[in-house]
Amino acid sequence: MFERTDEVKVLRDPVHGYIRVELKVIWDCINSAWFQRLRRIRQLGGANMVYHCAEHTRFSHSLGVYEVVRRMVSEVPDIVAALSERDKVVVMAAGLLHDLGHGPYSHAFESVTNTAHEEYSCRIIEEDTDVTRILNDAAPGMAKEVADVIRHTGRNPLLSQIVSSQLDADRMDYLLRDAYFTGTKYGEFDMERILRTLRIENGRQLVVKQSGVYAVENYIMSRYHMYWQVYYHPTARSFECVLHALFRRLKELYADDPSKLIGIFHPLVKNGPIGLDEYFRLDESSCGYAFDELARHEDPIVRDLAERIRDRRLFEYADSTPEKIAQVEKKLAEAGLPAEYYLGRDSVEQNPYVPYTGSQDSRIWIRMKDGSISELSDASTIVYSLTHGPVNDDNKIFFPREINAAD
Ligand code: NI
Repeated sequence: MFERTDEVKVLRDPVHGYIRVELKVIWDCINSAWFQRLRRIRQLGGANMVYHCAEHTRFSHSLGVYEVVRRMVSEVPDIVAALSERDKVVVMAAGLLHDLGHGPYSHAFESVTNTAHEEYSCRIIEEDTDVTRILNDAAPGMAKEVADVIRHTGRNPLLSQIVSSQLDADRMDYLLRDAYFTGTKYGEFDMERILRTLRIENGRQLVVKQSGVYAVENYIMSRYHMYWQVYYHPTARSFECVLHALFRRLKELYADDPSKLIGIFHPLVKNGPIGLDEYFRLDESSCGYAFDELARHEDPIVRDLAERIRDRRLFEYADSTPEKIAQVEKKLAEAGLPAEYYLGRDSVEQNPYVPYTGSQDSRIWIRMKDGSISELSDASTIVYSLTHGPVNDDNKIFFPREINAAD
């Protein structure tokens, strides 16, 4: 039913070996302008400021997620049997396109636009772009079906579980890929074992056989380590903090007349919806150029913050205590630097697996040897301890290094 490519296309990938493409609709999506845009957006917002090799992009991650989904729908016997050909193509496309709406600097940008990237992914898939046409030409109505899987509103919950739940193709690819490119070996886990032990319960719920529970524990630990060592590294958060301060300043200066600001940043400071044509131009190449322009700006705060981003002169960080905050505020006042832009606060907490919130679909279920189904934290002592121990959090403040707040 779906047209095939004239030969199997193979893309070499350091995480998966080869990524295989056999369907024309997938190949055409990869070659669309919107998908190629992902080459200009890195996978990790500020983490490449800490891990210098973490230069990999949303493009390679998206291909990786597609490959994990492709393997699930062609190698896991329960899934092969449960899905129609159309569902298989829809879920592969959803894996490929789930991050299509990511803006520059990863999640740092979502708080600037106040919009989750999934929302843009669905708009790009449905609002008449090159991707919309490719999907609907392959099968009428397919664009909406793909967006439904990403939104978790499709008729078959299994498809959304495959792409994004708590044990899914998205997370498996980004953990392995980020571990590889940052060089953090303990981010690795045994994906092959997880794929071998995946099953379907009641025709609509992914479960893992009890013999795969050690591989799942390993995956949860990998998530735990990657969060604290990479995603929440204070230097990466410092980068985000300077970025936010710059956009706060730009919004303040240009709220009344965004047209006075560098073109690509208009949509970010105006209040109102961002058009897809404007969004398309926002990538890390165009932002990098704009930051260099802003480093020559007439406003000293804009100039300073833009230069800090360009040259990696990031803020210093310290544990947040009332005494430390008072000390930094005093030093900033002495230096004539407004705390509004030069004192950042950020608190993060993370639990690598959340058994009791979220939908039933997104929890991890284990099929025990006697055939009963257990939720992961009931089947694993390690995961039980992680989810019942105190929640790990980290409360930091960020400020310019040169104010010497240690005095
Ligand atoms: Ni993703």
